[in-house]
Amino acid sequence: MTSRQLLVSTRNTHKIEEIRHILGPQFEVFDLSIIPDMPEVEETGVTFEENAELKAIAASHLFDGWVIADDSGLEVDSLGGAPGVLSARFSGPGATDASNRTLLLERLSSVRGKSRSARFRCVLSLARSGTALASFHGSVEGTIINSEKGSLGFGYDPLFVPEGHCETFAQLGAVVKNTLSHRARALSALKQWNGWRG
Ligand code: IMP
Repeated sequence: MTSRQLLVSTRNTHKIEEIRHILGPQFEVFDLSIIPDMPEVEETGVTFEENAELKAIAASHLFDGWVIADDSGLEVDSLGGAPGVLSARFSGPGATDASNRTLLLERLSSVRGKSRSARFRCVLSLARSGTALASFHGSVEGTIINSEKGSLGFGYDPLFVPEGHCETFAQLGAVVKNTLSHRARALSALKQWNGWRG
């Protein structure tokens, strides 16, 4: 079986690692290190879908083949859906995963129980030759706990316990996370896309 080549428009090594793991040998996944001159894409969209499309289209002008971009983030119900599309930049200029988690815990310090409900969302945009062809969505419901637990994964993983589990994504690790995550669900839809047959 020959694998399908796919460029993922990201420099986020965690995302790439997860996408490779989830897609498996059917796809040969490249990241933006093959286009070192590609300028940073400004994420000016107000939805995950808009930002995913911006990143996918930009890279598809510079790569002859299939391109996907992942835009994803965490929505916390008691914060009105924040940090949402601003998940990576939640704590402002120079934000890191650690500073974002610290701010999230601060914002939720007086919020208890069921009100700490949240979900991760992922939108994948598929593009080719400057045109967006389709988008694929995935989400996973869960709860934000009171302090960080676990050291695996990235971003908000040490604070997020997915529904039906007692441990965070950072404790559960890649094998479990990659079967039920927002990214796994969006990638499953991508794999089933009708257009691959064309
Ligand atoms: P993006 O690169 O603009 O899509 O930002 C994604 C941000 O959302 C990341 O920097 C993380 O803060 C958060 N995020 C997205 N997916 C995950 C995940 O699977 N685990 C933990 N945090 C995530």
